[in-house]
Amino acid sequence: MDTFPLAKTPALSLLQSKAGTQAVDLVVPKHIGIIMDGNRRWAQKRGYPRARGHEAGAEALERITDYAARIGVENLTVYAFSTENWQSRTKVEIQELFGLITLVLKRRLKKMQENGVVLGLIGDIQKFPLNLRQVLFHAKEVLKKNHRIKLNLALNYGGRDEILRAFKKITQAKVSAKEINEELLAKHLDTKGIPEPNLIIRTGGRQRLSNFLVWQCTYSELYFTDALWPDFGPEELDKAILYYSQCERNFGK
Ligand code: FPP
Repeated sequence: MDTFPLAKTPALSLLQSKAGTQAVDLVVPKHIGIIMDGNRRWAQKRGYPRARGHEAGAEALERITDYAARIGVENLTVYAFSTENWQSRTKVEIQELFGLITLVLKRRLKKMQENGVVLGLIGDIQKFPLNLRQVLFHAKEVLKKNHRIKLNLALNYGGRDEILRAFKKITQAKVSAKEINEELLAKHLDTKGIPEPNLIIRTGGRQRLSNFLVWQCTYSELYFTDALWPDFGPEELDKAILYYSQCERNFGK
């Protein structure tokens, strides 16, 4: 899973021509993290039921995964259900979200396979209902030989919870204090084997990380946009990548 061929596609050329007008050398981040915020506001604005906003969010995710693969992004990690969501959503909404994830992973599995998507899971999904876990593991298994883009779904994920679970694993392995270092801790995180995100995007207008990739975000560039997640398409991702490219030009090592 270390190397993916960089896709030199029309999508990338499009991005390059846009960048060309702004004299920026384009740098496509290898790993992008996304906090997909704004589904409910998107639905509310249109007078749709909340569930329709989440459905539109799932469609946006499919579009962005596709586009990201075409321009050469290797890892896309998306915050789909946080450890806080158990408290901040009603039981009905949680069921809607679980139902949606199940439906998408069943109905869109073939398409994901055709698109070369590998599925990664981060977060403590032991707390999810068995049928949802089975669907997740099945999709992961079916997609495991692909190598175009890795889509990491953060489910029942919280950065602090991830670090605590890592500490518990280290303690259970009876590792002595002097052997504990950053590398060892990183190896016990859910993101083991996944490079740290180069760019983290948050849609929906808020400018905070809300417990997303707490350990891994240390050197990430952060990009915030008012666009609501269902409206976040390739054009919006282009803007984020242009921003990232400018950061790389100004501060790159
Ligand atoms: C945040 O918007 C959205 C979520 C917490 C859910 C994200 C889920 C999806 C995009 C669907 C994922 C589908 C798959 C297959 C993984 P919000 O509900 O907080 O919106 P608001 O800020 O407008 O209230």
